[in-house]
Amino acid sequence: MYPAFGYHCLMKDYSLKKRVMVTGGAGFLGSHLCERLLADGLEVLCVDNFFTGARKNVEHLLPHPAFELLRHDVTFPLYVEVDEIYNLACPASPVHYQFDPVQTTKTSVMGAINMLGLAKRTKARILQASTSEVYGDPNVHPQPESYWGHVNPIGPRSCYDEGKRCAETLFFDYYRQNAVDIRVVRIFNTSGPRMHPRDGRVVSNFIVQALQGTDITIYGDGRQTRSFCYVDDLIEGMVRMMNNNQQFVGPVNIGNPSEFTMLELANAVLKLTGSSSRLVFAPLPDDDPRQRQPDITLAADKLGWRPTVELERGLKMTIDYFRTLLPR
Ligand SMILES: NC(=O)c1ccc[n+]([C@@H]2O[C@H](COP(=O)([O-])OP(=O)(O)OC[C@H]3O[C@@H](n4cnc5c(N)ncnc54)[C@H](O)[C@@H]3O)[C@@H](O)[C@H]2O)c1
Repeated sequence: MYPAFGYHCLMKDYSLKKRVMVTGGAGFLGSHLCERLLADGLEVLCVDNFFTGARKNVEHLLPHPAFELLRHDVTFPLYVEVDEIYNLACPASPVHYQFDPVQTTKTSVMGAINMLGLAKRTKARILQASTSEVYGDPNVHPQPESYWGHVNPIGPRSCYDEGKRCAETLFFDYYRQNAVDIRVVRIFNTSGPRMHPRDGRVVSNFIVQALQGTDITIYGDGRQTRSFCYVDDLIEGMVRMMNNNQQFVGPVNIGNPSEFTMLELANAVLKLTGSSSRLVFAPLPDDDPRQRQPDITLAADKLGWRPTVELERGLKMTIDYFRTLLPR
């Protein structure tokens, strides 16, 4: 048996720390979130099935005494004791979520049911990483949270868009029906170190192509716009949303409202990498939104949150990361 004093001390230390679970914690955003939560002095349980995430994204955290990594698929129930849950598990890039669309919907919908069930049992607060894709190809600009969206329910992107919409429905039904303590953030395009180099998202595509000196592919005429948030800003917004105790459950947009055309983005990448890649044009994929820009009034009012990293600085840090990955 433990000596009473020592055991008591152990229990006391342990119970002082909040236990936070991050599903999808070995992915791009999840790994940054795990780092941030550990830095805030919390215990972190990272849960991932490594579909698009990788152990190497969190390898540096493994020696940390407050960090634990668990291989698990959220479409199956999970029985653990936690105080907070960040539900990020879901492939986020079209190439990955369209690879097995049925599994994508299952991850969003059954994953939400399983994690909400866990939150209900443990009385944990639970935050859903939703997406700007719930607005589909919007006909309102910029998009406020009150906009219901313009989504194709049967297209190639629907497994992701509708899966995430259904997950939001489940979050709000568990909130109304079971008083589960929810928070919902709608994440707009975010980029930064640890993005998957072959995930087909525009920022990683352009950087990889520029660094390898191959043609930079622009879909459509390049005049469609996107806004890009740097990962550190996004994580700050998510953590503020989780920690707000004013019963503000969301949904709240978190993203950077500065809009850029794909041509502007490509030229910024060319300038920062010093690459001589050529721009080539390819047809626009089905259901590709023409414009996407968050209205962040609510995040500013309720959370005092605004992005602080502008495009070029974020791109530079992302390019530095990709330089370490790619052979010259
Ligand atoms: N990065 C963005 O721009 C962005 C924008 C909007 C929303 N989001 C949302 O944020 C979350 C994280 O996105 P990301 O960019 O880090 O993507 P990512 O693909 O890097 O991370 C997703 C993680 O979830 C894991 N995962 C997938 N299916 C799972 C399952 N069934 N069980 C357990 N783990 C599973 C993957 O292995 C990966 O580690 C996603 O829910 C995504 O929809 C991201």
